[in-house]
Amino acid sequence: MKIRVLGSSAGGGFPQWNCNCRNCDGVRRGSIAARARTQSSIAVSNNGEDWLLVNASPDILAQIAANPELQPARGVRDTGIAAVVTMDAQIDHVTGLLMLRERGTPLPLYTTDAVWQDLLTGFPITSILSHYCGVEHRRIALDGAAFSVPELPCVSIEARPLSSKAPPYSPHRNAPEVGDNIGLMFTNTATGKRAFYAPGLDELAPPVLDAMREADLLLVDGTVWTDDEMIRLGLTKKTGRDMGHLAQSSPGGMIDVLESIDRTGQRKVLIHINNTNPILVEDGPERRMLTERGIEVAHDGMTFEL
Ligand code: MLT
Ligand code: MN
Ligand code: ZN
Repeated sequence: MKIRVLGSSAGGGFPQWNCNCRNCDGVRRGSIAARARTQSSIAVSNNGEDWLLVNASPDILAQIAANPELQPARGVRDTGIAAVVTMDAQIDHVTGLLMLRERGTPLPLYTTDAVWQDLLTGFPITSILSHYCGVEHRRIALDGAAFSVPELPCVSIEARPLSSKAPPYSPHRNAPEVGDNIGLMFTNTATGKRAFYAPGLDELAPPVLDAMREADLLLVDGTVWTDDEMIRLGLTKKTGRDMGHLAQSSPGGMIDVLESIDRTGQRKVLIHINNTNPILVEDGPERRMLTERGIEVAHDGMTFEL
């Protein structure tokens, strides 16, 4: 099973178009040791030709261009993207669906009921797409049962509901529903190796912690270093928590959680990194702190074989 990081940044990307924070300005000028990143998405495959797109980022076209394996060119019109799953209905995870409208057949789209509701109402992207390729909705049940995508034999998928946030335009932004946000466990049924992907994660309930303990690869929420980082920069009034993201450096934060997990050979990788996060600076003290603890920072193009 191959996992390719298509976009390792949070919503907005890095640099963000209208941002001149130290990181965004620095990466634009080349004055800091950091690389640009596109918005939140990974792709999973077991044959390297048929891929499950996990989140459809606003940057999907650039991501396809940067990853030629997603275009196997078997016909005059073709794509390696066999199906899509979106883990919530946030702009950074669903907007790219619009860019896939030229498909010849309805787009197979896996979502929970809560996310599907948002895609019919708050962000009615599926009714827009019905005028183009259309969507073939495949429902993710939250009964704990594993499911598989017919196009990806040997990959078993389990959805774990988790605490983060429905988008601001969701009818249930302030009345959370189970399934607004999920984490996904991917198991290679041939090797038994597992990866847990959760780009949005605030409270780590026991089932989520269990999933994290069972995985050989963790790709988990790396949005902010400190909860008030965006407030201190004068960029927003929202904390990381308000947006559904657990900060890394706070007591009980993501670093502490990751340090508490002791699984031999497990790789711990932060993903969905906001452009304000100091861990983007490769020679900075925050990055060093992570490295010393065996925690990696995802970048676009990073590939895992499990
Ligand atoms: C989030 O993860 O909090 C959202 O994607 C932020 C956004 O896109 O505005
Ligand atoms: Mn996001
Ligand atoms: Zn910025």
